[in-house]
Formats: sequence, structure tokens, C-alpha cells
Amino acid sequence: MSKDAALRERAARVIPGGLWGHLRVQGLPPGYPQFFQRAEGCRLWDADGRELIDFMCSWGPVVLGHQDADVEAAAELQRRAGDTMNGPAPVLVELAEHFTGLVAHADWAIFAKNGTDATTTCVTTARAATGRRKLLVAQGAYHGAAPWCTPYPAGVTAEDRAHLLHYRYNDIASLEQAAALAGSDLAAVMVSPFRHDYGVELELPTPEFAQALRAVCDRQGAALILDEVRTGARLDLAGSWECFGVRPDLAAWSKAIANGHALAAVTGSEPWREAAASIFVTGSFWCGAVAMAAALATLRKLQAVDGIAHMRAMGQRLRDGLARQAQAHGFRIRQSGPPQMPLLLFDDDPGVELGSAFCALALQRGVYLHTKHNMFLSVAHRPHDIDRALLATDDAFAVLARR
Ligand SMILES: Cc1ncc(COP(=O)(O)O)c(C=O)c1O
Repeated sequence: MSKDAALRERAARVIPGGLWGHLRVQGLPPGYPQFFQRAEGCRLWDADGRELIDFMCSWGPVVLGHQDADVEAAAELQRRAGDTMNGPAPVLVELAEHFTGLVAHADWAIFAKNGTDATTTCVTTARAATGRRKLLVAQGAYHGAAPWCTPYPAGVTAEDRAHLLHYRYNDIASLEQAAALAGSDLAAVMVSPFRHDYGVELELPTPEFAQALRAVCDRQGAALILDEVRTGARLDLAGSWECFGVRPDLAAWSKAIANGHALAAVTGSEPWREAAASIFVTGSFWCGAVAMAAALATLRKLQAVDGIAHMRAMGQRLRDGLARQAQAHGFRIRQSGPPQMPLLLFDDDPGVELGSAFCALALQRGVYLHTKHNMFLSVAHRPHDIDRALLATDDAFAVLARR
């Protein structure tokens, strides 16, 4: 029995369902490991010691590469000085100054641990500021695992979601309809920088849609909340909608901002500061200084090495290679999303059987892809890693074509 199988058997006895949440491997093709022993750069080693080129990057947090030496040195220095203390370390102020200097809309920041902390804090701030209740979100969008936003109904009451209304991403008419329904009770509209719902093609926003969101919020005195949890530090360090000239009032960040250390952030503009100061949000570990030192090092390095441009170039290299290979082997595929956060789907594959078989074959050849979720590039992916991965995917396409 493999070490992974043995661990799964033990886990099934002491952990409900074997594992909670999105890292549960059941949704992936057979052969995907559940447990990993170590990670470095853009490589992972599973519990059985198999080396894999990683295109999930911990589902986003790892942006510079696993165990980045500069980030780990900064974290270690802070760890030796103190982490969770009776109050924050000076690095909190330094990080808040740096982050608000980087993010165009931000005049202030609050730090937490998980993306759900950040999205929830944005909503609470908006409600405190406006004294209103209704929140608009896009149908099918993921904003976290709290009762107000979890996609799973188990254990959630109707009351938990009583003030949630939905619009369709990139559909201005549906946005206007939902905003009209909320009327004078509209506290906030939440939106992701691009549509990255599970299992469907990724969709970039039209500039008109982004601008319409801003206009609706301005007209109705509601907060525009940009959920940057997945996109943050991968599209634009100043904010993902800078390219449209659309700035949110509040933004939620997490995942990549500390290169795998547990940190989330809420940023806000001046008019929302007082409300942010009035709410009570906290957590035993929210002022942990190690993650903050890691974040400062991560953000500085991303800037210094122009990490976003590099990830985009590596993602494009992968995308171009996959497109060439698919064509050569007679497959029609669709690649969507920004190159540094790509998704590959096969045409005429509604049950994702082809996609699953392809990913399973790639995995056997040392490449960890995802069938339905957007993937992630990191700064640690170098041209030779992409080319090595493409050798594996070429072989995977070839085997699939012979079946
Ligand atoms: C867009 C978005 N918002 C919020 C969250 C929730 O973040 P966390 O799982 O850290 O609570 C996620 C997590 O995947 C996300 O992708």
C-alpha cells in the first residue's frame, strides 16, 4: 500500500470525510495524491516521494515559489524575535504603510488570516458605514466558506443569507435589476476581478461592466468591494481593476500576499475608515508578526523582480505549448483566464472525462494540473520548468489520442 493510501485510511478514521474543504482530493482524477511531504520552488514531493511540477501553487498562496529563501529569511528573523505576542510587532505598521502605498485605492489596511475573514470584514464594514443590509454578489462566485457565502447548503440557514441578492457576471442589466431590488437597503456590491467560478470557462470582465459596478455603487451610496483574494499579487499589485480605471471602496486580499504564510488583508479608501474603526473584528492569530514579515518580503520581491510580468510570460509559454500540442494531436481545447491563472478545458467534454484523463496522464509524467479550477503560475517557474512540463503534456496528449 502506498504511503498516501495508508495516510488516507488513517485520516478517514479520525477526520470527518478524510479531510474538510477544497483540498479534499476526491474531486480530482484517480492517482492524485492527498498528502505531500515537502515543496520547493515550483516542485512538490508527494507522500510517496514522487516529484511533481506544481501548477496549483497551494491553490494560489505560493506566488514566489515554495520556500522562497528571501521570504523565509525574513519570516525566520521575525520568528526569533516574536510572533503572536500581547500586541502586534512594529512590522504591522511597516506592512500597512507599504501595502497602502502599493494598492491604489487604499488609505488604510486591516490584517487577518484567511480570505473569508477579509471578505466578511469588508461586508461588515460596508454595513456599518451605510446602516444598510443588502449585499449583491455574482451568481456562482466564491467569496469564502462562512455561512453567508459558502456554496454548500449544509448547516446554513435561510436567515444567514437573507440579505444576499444575485446578478450575473458581465451582465449589466442583471446588475441593475438586483440593485433596484435592493433599493435604499443596498450596503455593498461584491465582485471578483474576473469570473473564476469552478468548472466553467474563466471570463474577463468587460470595461463597461466594471464601470457599471462603480456607477451603481456611487449612485446608490453603496460600497464596491473587490474580492482580490485569488487574484491579488498576480494581476496588478496596485489592484486588478487599475487597467479599467475602476477603484473599489474596499478590497479583500489573502492567498498570495505572504507567499504561503497565513495572512489576509482588507484595504479601504478614506470614506470607509471610520466604519472600519467602529466594527469589532479580531482573531487570536491576526496580529501574528511572522506572516506580516513574510508579506513585506513577498511584496517587495514581487516588485523588485517584476514577478507579475514573469508569471504572465511563463503562463503564456505554457498556453502556447499546450495549444500547439492539442492541435498536433487532434484535440480541440479552450484555454481561458489570464495566462498566469489559466484553465484548460476540452471541447465536447461536458463531464470532463477527457480533461480528467489528460490530467491523470500528465500527473503520471510528473506534472500537477487541475481539471476544473484555475491553475496558478509562480515566479519560481522558469522556462526550463515549463518546457519540461510541456514534454509531459505532449506525451499525455499522445497517449490520449491513441485511446
Ligand atoms: C475569490 C475568493 N474569495 C475568498 C476566498 C476564501 O479564502 P479562504 O479560503 O482563505 O478563506 C477564496 C478562496 O479560494 C477565493 O478564491
